[in-house]
Amino acid sequence: MSEQMTRRRFVKVTATAVGLAALGGGGYMAVEWAPDEEYGEYPRMTIGDGMSRVLVVYGTKTGCTAGIAEQIGGTIAETGATVDVVPAGDGPDAAGYDAVIVGSGVRVGSWHPFVKEWATTQAGTLKSVPVAFFTACLTMATDPDKADEVRAYTDPLIEATGVKPVDIGLFAGMNDPKKFSLPERLIMKAMKAPQGDFRDMDAVAEWTRDVVGKLGLS
Ligand SMILES: Cc1cc2nc3c(=O)[nH]c(=O)nc-3n(C[C@H](O)[C@H](O)[C@H](O)COP(=O)(O)O)c2cc1C
Repeated sequence: MSEQMTRRRFVKVTATAVGLAALGGGGYMAVEWAPDEEYGEYPRMTIGDGMSRVLVVYGTKTGCTAGIAEQIGGTIAETGATVDVVPAGDGPDAAGYDAVIVGSGVRVGSWHPFVKEWATTQAGTLKSVPVAFFTACLTMATDPDKADEVRAYTDPLIEATGVKPVDIGLFAGMNDPKKFSLPERLIMKAMKAPQGDFRDMDAVAEWTRDVVGKLGLS
């Protein structure tokens, strides 16, 4: 890629694409694209039967982050825990768990709104148990040296809620145009974003094994 895939670029390209959609007879396409109004049905599952109880909450629009959440859940279960992996849209109650992991895909430098809403609603509980975050995005595939920038995607949420994650996993996501809406595809095309599934499940499992200790589960 000739230009780096930074948040600033996503903001610039998104503003242009949304503007063009509005001007070009797409009418209210930009309004309809509101990301919190478009997320599908994604699986919830319970993995393992250990003593500790862990909640993994995730937000996704294409299924990318669901796969990462499942990998995290499976890896934690191997350490002897019962892990509930639940989409944020299902609104799980974080109370009663020994640890919580929350993660989301990214749109324009920020987690999906419905994940931020869930974390905000549950902030009281999330401040009283060990919590880790994870973020899945394309920057970690194209420009992994921008990890600090990606880590900062959750700074506003941390500031707003007072929830302090023990760690933030930063993972490469995917760009499958078939799973994006038309405006999203236009944005990704304008970004010259590479197509493919860049998830590295070994890296996800490695981070998870490390974070288990930080969450006080081992
Ligand atoms: C409109 C749009 C904006 C995006 N903005 C960013 C961004 O700011 N930074 C980034 O690294 N990735 C960005 N991405 C890439 C997604 O985060 C990536 O496709 C991720 O895998 C999506 O995960 P999900 O489908 O589980 O939500 C964007 C994708 C789209 C379609």
